[in-house]
Amino acid sequence: MLFAIVALLFIVLVVGWWPNRRRRELIDKIPGPYHYPILGAVPYFILQPGKAWKEFRNYAKSRNYPMYKVVLFGAPYIHFLLPEDIEMVLSSRKHINKTNVYEYIKLWVGQGIFSSAGEKWHTRRKMASPGLFPKMLQSFVEIFGKHSEDLVERLEEECEKSSTEIQPLVSKCALYGVCESITGTKLDNDNDIDGYFDATHRFDTLLMHQLSRPWYMFFPIFALTPTYRELKRLARTLHNFTWAIIKKKKKEVEGFEKLNEYEFEANSERRFGLLDILLLAKNSDHVIDDEGIREEVDTFLFAGYDTTSAMMTFTLLLLASYGDIQQNVFNELQDVFGDSDRQPEYQDLQNLSYLDKVIRESLRLYPSVPAISRRITEEITTRSGYVIPKDTNINIRIFDIHHDPKLYPDPYKFDPERFSIDNCKNRHPFAYLPFSAGPRSCMGRKFAMLMGKCILSSILRKYQVEALQPLETVRLMNHALLTTKEPIRLKFVRR
Ligand code: HEM
Repeated sequence: MLFAIVALLFIVLVVGWWPNRRRRELIDKIPGPYHYPILGAVPYFILQPGKAWKEFRNYAKSRNYPMYKVVLFGAPYIHFLLPEDIEMVLSSRKHINKTNVYEYIKLWVGQGIFSSAGEKWHTRRKMASPGLFPKMLQSFVEIFGKHSEDLVERLEEECEKSSTEIQPLVSKCALYGVCESITGTKLDNDNDIDGYFDATHRFDTLLMHQLSRPWYMFFPIFALTPTYRELKRLARTLHNFTWAIIKKKKKEVEGFEKLNEYEFEANSERRFGLLDILLLAKNSDHVIDDEGIREEVDTFLFAGYDTTSAMMTFTLLLLASYGDIQQNVFNELQDVFGDSDRQPEYQDLQNLSYLDKVIRESLRLYPSVPAISRRITEEITTRSGYVIPKDTNINIRIFDIHHDPKLYPDPYKFDPERFSIDNCKNRHPFAYLPFSAGPRSCMGRKFAMLMGKCILSSILRKYQVEALQPLETVRLMNHALLTTKEPIRLKFVRR
């Protein structure tokens, strides 16, 4: 028996410990809070649920470290805080692999652009890019305008109420905008949009539940939980919604292989989006199959609508809290639209330069995606002087970078002028990352800004928004998506 134990220890030492000693030495040099034997930083999540990340952040901030480590069950996660170090990872074509943090999102989006890597990611990204070319974006403005108009009408009855929970309303509007433009399909009663909407929100909530419990990173443990079973059920609901749209579209695209022929035939009756491009690619080169198309449609819906609705919700909250800035936005809207009720056109939205700065500053204060991560594929020596071994997880805490007083003096102040051309000139390009940066940055950045400006301008032309609580009392939840502990409520007043 004793011999067996000694032999086992020897094997563990030889296979696990000895070859990794350099890796461990390098990780040991990186600063971090106290780590417990074997469990590393896991006890912080057990002893202080919901507070662990804040604790780690304060630890690094108070000591002015450029990075800090959090080791969970032996796997180190290094949190980069310096734009120069972040640039090394995000701008590289080598370090494009995501970490296992993204694993459960795959239940929804499969191996689509968001979650895949290597050649597959590259081919898919190239194939999907034309779906967001400027010509396509221009054609989407009509869709955004139509749904903004519906939302503005819906808000009419909210003026009679003392307060309105805003996120579900802008979220539904964004879902219609993203879904109809990406799939080139007008949604009707056959599409269970309410069921889809509820399923996406429940899915996000369960993902947050999983992400805040590091022990659920082990699939064998997580697979036994009711949360996992519910995630799988929700994924089926989400997929059924997408399959119904794809099936209908397939009939329209049948017999076509070339984009120009199809576009010519398409005429004004038919809408044209990324889904059409993918189905044409399937018909012509068979480079993607039905499952792949489903993955990409789900990817764009997943990546596009909740992020944009968070951006709009926080922008409205900020404008409600800063009356003078809301007045500046309204003055610009008057200059562009006057008193007319017409829907925005593409050029109008391009002319809203002040609103543009407002949204950028809102994304700085409240980045919809507060953190991202990468698994680096080869050793790097950072500009701050640390050596990070191959196969290490790097976390980029966008929220913390956006609130660093060295990069943004008085960082909690809402000041859109930070995004004037002059004030941007000397800022490090990797100090502002709401859409990430480099080869794996957000594909929908221009889409999001365009849709956001369309919906927000439509609301603000008609209504004044008023805050019901001091901004400092809004409690944030810093998970996969930035949200608030309590729903944001605002008062809408007719202009
Ligand atoms: C305010 C709105 C948005 C924000 C803040 C945002 C932010 C981001 C961020 C930070 C990433 C990088 C994620 C990572 O590396 O883990 C990303 C990726 C992505 N986003 Fe967005 N996004 C927004 C809207 C959109 C929209 C509207 C679409 C599409 C219609 C979209 C499509 C994508 C896709 C496809 C990726 C994956 C890119 C890749 O991995 O190559 N996003 N987004």
